[in-house]
Amino acid sequence: MGAPLLEIENLRTYFYSPGKQAFVRAVDGVTLAIARGETLGVVGESGSGKSVTALSSMGLISAGPGVISGTIAFRGDEGERHLLQGLEDYVTLHERDGRIMEVSKDETGWQAHVERVMAPVRGKGIAMIFQNPRSALNPFVTVGHQITEAIRLHTPTKDPRDAKARALDWLERVKMDSPRLRFDNYPYGLSGGMCQRAMIAMALSSEPSLLIADEPTTGLDATIQSKIVGLLAELKSEYKIATMLISHDIRVISRLADNVAVMYGGTVVEYGPAPDVLAARFNPKHPYTAALLASIPSAQNVRDHGDLSAVEGEVPDAIDVPRGCRFYARCNRVTDDIRNTCARQEPELREVAPGHRVRCWLYGE
Ligand SMILES: Nc1ncnc2c1ncn2[C@@H]1O[C@H](COP(=O)(O)OP(=O)(O)OP(=O)(O)O)[C@@H](O)[C@H]1O
Ligand code: SF4
Ligand SMILES: [Mg+2]
Repeated sequence: MGAPLLEIENLRTYFYSPGKQAFVRAVDGVTLAIARGETLGVVGESGSGKSVTALSSMGLISAGPGVISGTIAFRGDEGERHLLQGLEDYVTLHERDGRIMEVSKDETGWQAHVERVMAPVRGKGIAMIFQNPRSALNPFVTVGHQITEAIRLHTPTKDPRDAKARALDWLERVKMDSPRLRFDNYPYGLSGGMCQRAMIAMALSSEPSLLIADEPTTGLDATIQSKIVGLLAELKSEYKIATMLISHDIRVISRLADNVAVMYGGTVVEYGPAPDVLAARFNPKHPYTAALLASIPSAQNVRDHGDLSAVEGEVPDAIDVPRGCRFYARCNRVTDDIRNTCARQEPELREVAPGHRVRCWLYGE
């Protein structure tokens, strides 16, 4: 198998909130890995840190007075790179009682360092597609020209005519209707679904080792959504490109993912093979994953439980993070035996079956 293509260990990305004079712990100790050819689904409700995990891997966290720590190893065609290495040279942390109280940062040096490390990785190594493709495409450049330039920049095809032919080919592969016509369109001339196809074509045309797709179907209407999911499924079986697929739609994840990471409150609470993590009755299971699965309005669920909505209770505060298990306030499976431990001590992500890990005291030693 070899080492994973992307390996994130104990990633912490904190933003500073000047209003509250405190850190927003957006990502707070995320560990996950993606093997070559694997699709890792990342699920979790809004604010759980999915996008910030992705943006941290792309070096797209701005150099504001925040903190980013941990390691991100990326092993693309150019060899192994450590994407966060050296960042600590630009930051001084002032801690009290083990908590970060203040950060001094050389923001210009930090940003220049990130660009040096990430310039060779973005596009060719890791490409990203976003929820809102219109904002990711340049509005002043035709779709065809943007894809052609990506091909010339990131692949061995440098001749403009060859690159144009390949760009057209990609527009056909993502099933853009009338690709020759669309080639000369500006992004505003395309519908949301067409823009998403153009974005996918542009990302794949760089022939990246890893694709990060952050909510690629949210915001599109239901029919277009299912067409884009169908397209991603076809591209997956055809190109076997490693993908981090972020979505809060479990149906999208279950169709495409090999492994799944369930995020809650900036951490991964369950991680393992998709069929196990997504099987409602599979045991052991994290209580949050169980609640998330129960909230899917499937015909079966609606029959069993009536009308269903999102997981009950408030999303955890990313500033005043509770000391114990982050899900404690919403958990309906705490037993008397573990109640005190749940309230006081955060559980580790523990292996409960080969390749399947759960962060919950129900599955302690
Ligand atoms: N630039 C920023 N400055 C301050 N806080 C931020 C910033 N970006 C994200 N956050 C906060 O970090 C937390 C995690 O945000 P993130 O965007 O990763 O969530 P998400 O899981 O992608 O949610 P969604 O499903 O809504 O996209 C949230 O509390 C969010 O408000
Ligand atoms: S550790 Fe305790 S509170 Fe947290 S999910 Fe498990 S049972 Fe619930
Ligand atoms: Mg997001």
